[in-house]
Amino acid sequence: MMSDKKINVAIIGLSFGAEFIPLYQKHPNANMYAICQRTASELNKVGDYFGVEKRYTDYDEMLKDPEIDAVHINTPVSSHAPQVLKALRAGKHVACTIPMATTVDECRQIVELAEETGLKYCMMETVLYSREFLFAKELYDQGALGKMQFLQGSHVQDMEGWPEYWEGFPPMHNATHCVSPMLGLTGAEAEYVSCFGSGTIDESYIAKYHSPFAIETCHIKFKDSDLSARVYRSLYGVARQYRESFDFYGSKKAYEWPLIEGEDPIIHTRSKPEPEIAERVKVPDYAHLLPEEIQAYTTKGVYDDDNEHLSFAQGAGHGGSHPHLAHQFIMSLVEDTEPYPNAREAANITCVGILAHESALAGGEIIKLPEFTLKS
Ligand SMILES: NC(=O)c1ccc[n+]([C@@H]2O[C@H](COP(=O)([O-])OP(=O)(O)OC[C@H]3O[C@@H](n4cnc5c(N)ncnc54)[C@H](O)[C@@H]3O)[C@@H](O)[C@H]2O)c1
Repeated sequence: MMSDKKINVAIIGLSFGAEFIPLYQKHPNANMYAICQRTASELNKVGDYFGVEKRYTDYDEMLKDPEIDAVHINTPVSSHAPQVLKALRAGKHVACTIPMATTVDECRQIVELAEETGLKYCMMETVLYSREFLFAKELYDQGALGKMQFLQGSHVQDMEGWPEYWEGFPPMHNATHCVSPMLGLTGAEAEYVSCFGSGTIDESYIAKYHSPFAIETCHIKFKDSDLSARVYRSLYGVARQYRESFDFYGSKKAYEWPLIEGEDPIIHTRSKPEPEIAERVKVPDYAHLLPEEIQAYTTKGVYDDDNEHLSFAQGAGHGGSHPHLAHQFIMSLVEDTEPYPNAREAANITCVGILAHESALAGGEIIKLPEFTLKS
């Protein structure tokens, strides 16, 4: 029987973050309690639109509110770790958008504090709850792919014209979308990485983060496994349509991401004769795994009924992952289970990227993941 426990959620950061408001409003075990953004006029716009009464312009003030059980953070990358640490210190469970942090030390602090306090931390990685990943994972778990032999992923994006804080951002510092499916498919942990930088971004951007590379390509060795993966990431100066991809090569079947957005993925079946080896497949939706109240949001954006706000909608993007993310986080609190990825898992995923960038700056040096990112 479903529990009738309700978790009071507060969201900080209301651009991407607003996507989650109706999900918590409609989830049977959540109460969309409070929202936070610094500019009062913008805060009120979102609050009025969605009908959220409790509003804060000051995050520290919000954290003093004893009614709040969990904080969901959707602010710019550099704020994630400081805001997560503050929330944990204030006794709140935390969900935070990607990446966990931008330094290894921040990741360590979050893992230690979450484990010390017993509070839940979840990195809200959209790819791990996208219908494409859920489909590939189902195939793998059923044995349909056979023995996994190799994995690769990419996240290429042209951030020209985005807010200035992105300019020159080290590509691998924001690589969780391509790293997480590599590790998530088989439940692996990364043991060490080696990464090469390639190309050069615009001179004026390089000084901002002392990062010159247009693309970073990282090899990841999995712990206690014969597997390795490679991922590549770009943010500036590369001509390529947006792509968050993963390819999984098994002994029986391979799952390959399409080259062009909007095409169906390809399954290669080894036992079939050419040219039937490669077939395009329709990826099913996984809304049936969700409470009925939020099932529609795997395909529907939160502003889809309202033309006025359509330009802000990201909703049904990200593979329909948002309702799955909200659901698994809430249920981990209701049922006292570990969310996925939890602090250690998120640290392993995030530190792959941070250390990959360090490796690229050192000409491809092999760098080990720290102990605190490993389960054992
Ligand atoms: N697929 C994904 O997982 C995905 C998709 C989009 C965005 N994101 C992540 O979500 C985060 C936000 O992205 P965005 O595009 O919405 O960014 P944005 O810059 O458009 O919005 C950030 C929001 O945070 C608020 N904010 C910033 N600092 C604050 C503070 N100290 N107190 C209160 N409010 C504060 C801003 O007012 C704004 O509402 C980023 O980290 C981004 O990487 C993840």
